[in-house]
Order: sequence, then C-alpha cells, then structure tokens
Amino acid sequence: MKHTDIKKVLFDADMVGTDTVVCGWVRTFRDSAQVAFLELSDGTAFQKLQVVIDKNSLSVDPEATKLGASVCVKGTVVPAFRGTGSELNAKEVILLGKCPPEYPIQKKRTTLEFLRGMPHLRLRTNTFAAVFRVRSVAAQAIHRYFHERGYYYINAPLITASDCEGAGEMFRVTTQPWNAPYKTEEEYYKNDFFGVKAGLSVSGQLEGEVAATAFGKIYTFGPSFRAENSNTTRHLAEFWHVEPEIAFAELPDVIEIAEDMLRYLVRAVLEECPEELKFFDSFVEKGLIEKLTHVANSDFAVCSYSDAVALLEKENARFEFPVHWGSDLQSEHEKFLTEVVFKRPVFVTDYPKEIKAFYMKQNADGKTVAATDLLVPGIGEIIGGSEREADLEKLRTAMKERGMSEDAYRQYLDLRRFGSVPHGGFGLGFERFVMYCTGMENIRDVTLFPRSVKNIM
Ligand code: 4AD
Ligand code: MG
Repeated sequence: MKHTDIKKVLFDADMVGTDTVVCGWVRTFRDSAQVAFLELSDGTAFQKLQVVIDKNSLSVDPEATKLGASVCVKGTVVPAFRGTGSELNAKEVILLGKCPPEYPIQKKRTTLEFLRGMPHLRLRTNTFAAVFRVRSVAAQAIHRYFHERGYYYINAPLITASDCEGAGEMFRVTTQPWNAPYKTEEEYYKNDFFGVKAGLSVSGQLEGEVAATAFGKIYTFGPSFRAENSNTTRHLAEFWHVEPEIAFAELPDVIEIAEDMLRYLVRAVLEECPEELKFFDSFVEKGLIEKLTHVANSDFAVCSYSDAVALLEKENARFEFPVHWGSDLQSEHEKFLTEVVFKRPVFVTDYPKEIKAFYMKQNADGKTVAATDLLVPGIGEIIGGSEREADLEKLRTAMKERGMSEDAYRQYLDLRRFGSVPHGGFGLGFERFVMYCTGMENIRDVTLFPRSVKNIM
C-alpha cells in the first residue's frame, strides 16, 4: 500500500501543503458538532498524528472511529493547530479493520500486570511502544559500537554440549520420548539425537573465545537460556546476551571496554529516543533522564569484592542475608553498594574463586579470580565478565577441582595449548539494559514474549 510514515507527516516541513495517505490504528476519537478528531499511530513515531475531519464536507464510517480500528486516511498536511509539527485535514477515511468494543486495550490506564496476560496486544500501548523503540535503538547501537571498533560479529551455536557457566542451569535438548526405555543415563544419551547430552547454551563465551583467539576482537549478540528456578523481576529463561571477547586484554581492559560500551549505548538512547525517555521520566521513573545523562558523562566506580564485603559487613543488620567474605552477593547487597554506597554504576572485581566459573583467571593470592560484575542502581548486576585463565595447567586444575571432564572441553583447552594469549570479555544482559534505560521494573515488560518458570504464553 502506498502511504507515508506518520513520523514524516508529523515532522517533515516539506510535507506541509501536500496531499498524502497515512495508515494506522485509531488511538483516540473526539467528536463535536462541526469537526471530529482522530488520533492515529503507525509505530513510526511516539507522537500520534491528529486527523481533522470537517463533518460538513466528509462523513466517516463510525466503525473507522473506534478505538483500535485500523484505517487509511487521505488528506492534506497542514501545520498543527496546537503545538509543533503537522496534522492532516482528512479528505477520505477508509476503514481497513474493525475493532469491536471488547478490545481489551482501552484508554483508561491499565496495570502492567493486566497487560502481561495479553502479550500479543499490549504492544499497542504507549508504554510498550516506547519500551520497544528503546530496545530497537539500543540493539542497533550495540552493533554500531562494535562494528565501528573493528570487532567481528560472531554467531555462537545455541545448541551445545558444554556448560559454560557450570551452574547446572542448562535446558536439555533431546529427541527421546518422555518414557524412553533406557536403564542408564549413558544409554539414554547414546541413543539420543547427538549421541551425547546436549542443551541450550547459557552463554556464547566459549565459542567467542575460539573466535577471539583467531580474529582478535569479536562479539556475539543472541539468545542465552537459563533453566534457573528464579522467579524474579530480573530473570528470564530466555534472554538476549551481548558478549564481546577480546584477545590481548586483561581485566582492566575488559572494565574499560564495558564502561565505554555502556556509556555509548546510554548516549545513543538519549539522543535517539528523547520522546520515549520523556514519557518514562513522567510516568515510570522520575529523574530517569537526569540519571542517564549523568551515567553518560561520569566515570563508574571500581571496588574489589574484599573491600565491598568489608563495607557491607558493617551494614549486616539491614540485610536479609548477612554477608561475610566468601559469600555470593545477593541482590540486596548489590543494590546497596550501587545505590547507597557509590550512588552510580560500580564494577566489583576479584571475587572468591569458589563462587565464580571455572574459566576465570586465577589471581596471585590463590583465593580470588580476575572477575568483574557491573552493578547499576535499580537493577543490580547488569554485566558479568572476567579475564580468562590463559595458563593450560591452571585451567586443567580448576576443571579437575570442579569434576569437569577434560574430554568435553578439549577444544577449549587447545586454545591454551596453541598460542595462548591473555584475553577476556563480558556479558551484558540486554533486557536488564533496557530496564535500566526505561525504568521498567519487571524484565517481563521489556520482552516481547517473556519465558520464565511456568510461563510460556
Ligand atoms: O554473569 P553471567 O552469567 O556471565 C556469563 O554468562 C559470562 N559467560 C559472560 C561473559 O563473560 N561472556 O551473565 C551475564 C549477564 C548478567 O550480568 C545478566 O545481565 C545477564 O547476563 N543474565 C540474565 N538476564 C536475564 N535473565 C537471566 N536469567 C540472566 N542470567 C544472566
Ligand atoms: Mg553473573
């Protein structure tokens, strides 16, 4: 269908005075004796286009004025009567698709929880239009950031036989029936599609390392899967994961890149989504624009795990789970550090090796690894990364301590056998980043069809 984007009609001054055609959905309808007003949206702009209907010269099918109906309007572009931009004086309004009154997305403000029950329709609200514009702009900015800096874009496999994070959170991939007649696990997997135990990847990192130790700088941007039984506002079973991996890089380099990337992404969203951010600032998180502007322009903090624990221990009375050296940081501790102590994003570094994955570089103290988590206010952990263990023997020892089979990781060990280099990288949870930029408090509200425990609508 030949038609013009509403964004162009609204804001392109050259359109004024021309006749054009727009298509969209009716978002509001106001009627009076002489004129009626239809507000249309077509997804190209956060603002709606006002269509003015002169009732003396044009009669409109009442169905074409119903909330949610889809229409095509021919008319003349004129400067808006109020405010900036343009509106459209209608010459013809054609109904494309009726929308009966039981349409559940009504004007009155509904709750996000109510809308979660209709993921296929909730996108037609202002909130979700704004969330998914930010998400789309951020995704483009991620590719731009790495492309401009010479990184290869790599696609790691989603089906894998190796558990990267080693936390036992892999979904199994199998073609065996639920009542497969085998007596042992071994027999089961031998008869399965791949002949070994396979699952959905929790991270593209291991393959990312393969590519980085050939191409230098790479990134992946794709789905990761976690079968963790955490029914929280920041966990999904399927999330999008940005994972750069860099050769000839140590932990400080990894931190520098993570900070630079995050600031670049925040700046892109500030520049490309001003209307959406104004909306979030008014209705979702007061002060959001100020927060993001501050993040785009100031340095993040860096603090070792040991120092962080010393700070937290003094506050143990306020926590549900008291902290001591060696314990994993809970969400309440992460939030306290970034929101109360540092009041800005903070990289926590050098965690005890027992609470981190097998592949992390072991520090000289014998107790900690060169890991870092980036914690941000409102969310907690948004990035997890590390320098990788490049020493073959140390890596083998770490695997042995965890009871891992060397056989399954032969290729990974080869990277340390043939021209091993210091290298590292990190993973950004894309949905958590979108939450951070929009102020949305539930990860299910920044995902088209969220998958979580007992939820696959
Ligand atoms: O900290 P994680 O588990 O680190 C890794 O997977 C590394 N292999 C990354 C790397 O070094 N290449 O996950 C990285 C990030 C987390 O900080 C979080 O933002 C996000 O991925 N994440 C999740 N997001 C939503 N739902 C979940 N269940 C998530 N699990 C991790
Ligand atoms: Mg982590």
